[in-house]
Amino acid sequence: MTRRELLALASERLGSREEAVWLLEGASGKNLAELVLSLGEEAPSEEADLVSRMLQRRQSGEPLQYVLGTWGFRGLDLKVDARALIPRPETEVLVDIALAELGRFAAATAEPRCRVADLGTGSGAIALAIASEAAELLDEVWATDSSGSALELARMNSSRLADVEPHAAAKLRLARGSWYEALPRRLVGELGVIASNPPYVAASEMARLPVEVVEWEPAAALLAGPAGIEAIREVLLGAPRWLAPGGSVVVEIGAGQAGAAVEISHEAGFCCSSVRRDLAGLPRVLVACLK
Ligand SMILES: C[S@@+](CC[C@H](N)C(=O)[O-])C[C@H]1O[C@@H](n2cnc3c(N)ncnc32)[C@H](O)[C@@H]1O
Repeated sequence: MTRRELLALASERLGSREEAVWLLEGASGKNLAELVLSLGEEAPSEEADLVSRMLQRRQSGEPLQYVLGTWGFRGLDLKVDARALIPRPETEVLVDIALAELGRFAAATAEPRCRVADLGTGSGAIALAIASEAAELLDEVWATDSSGSALELARMNSSRLADVEPHAAAKLRLARGSWYEALPRRLVGELGVIASNPPYVAASEMARLPVEVVEWEPAAALLAGPAGIEAIREVLLGAPRWLAPGGSVVVEIGAGQAGAAVEISHEAGFCCSSVRRDLAGLPRVLVACLK
């Protein structure tokens, strides 16, 4: 079977030519231009078998990103699987904001290098992006999670980063534990930026999430508790103790949680908090800075 025929078959079975192209790119190891130029060629049998297995997985409802096994996040090619949440575009916005806060902190402090923590790192997306994009400002980036399997995935991604950007990967420190418990005590009062995309779905909202999310992504990455704000609360209330003066906490929140998150930040003792919008214009990131 030629790749063109394979593409037609996959498009028909998935009802999406776009997804079929993703699968063929993944199975052949070719980028889009290479794939298009090779459409007239016979697909090797291992490649056709791999496409067939990928089609079965996708048709059973598994997210495209898990089927492909890797997914892009701010220019990084991250390994993704059911051990951790699929990194989302709104989290790329959080990284933009965390990098701006890091730049501001670095400019205002005498410290030549800053320390950063990404709490609830999952695949490692936030920590790796910060390490990759601001290595020169960093002493270390702590990537923590309570899930051992998520941390295994983050470790694999850290190794992949080490292959292409060893200087950035050398800044990463992985640790397991619940929120701040994972961090060494020497970091108390030392962090320039705390970034976190914690779970923020309420138990009652879980049933309203897309089936693909609920059935395939880890519940521990989504469900915060009865109210949905519980993990955001823990991250915000703990932040002042761990931040250096002038440091910031940057937290992803659900679209309806801005008011509650600002209130919690005041309860935590932050006087200047703001809520930033994502690419869709929704209020999705709380930023609070320690005086
Ligand atoms: C919404 S996911 C975010 C994953 C990744 N940071 C991202 O943005 O793609 C939340 C992460 O928090 C972790 N988590 C849940 N409860 C935690 C806790 N008590 N302490 C630390 N991490 C926790 C989950 O295992 C999951 O990896």
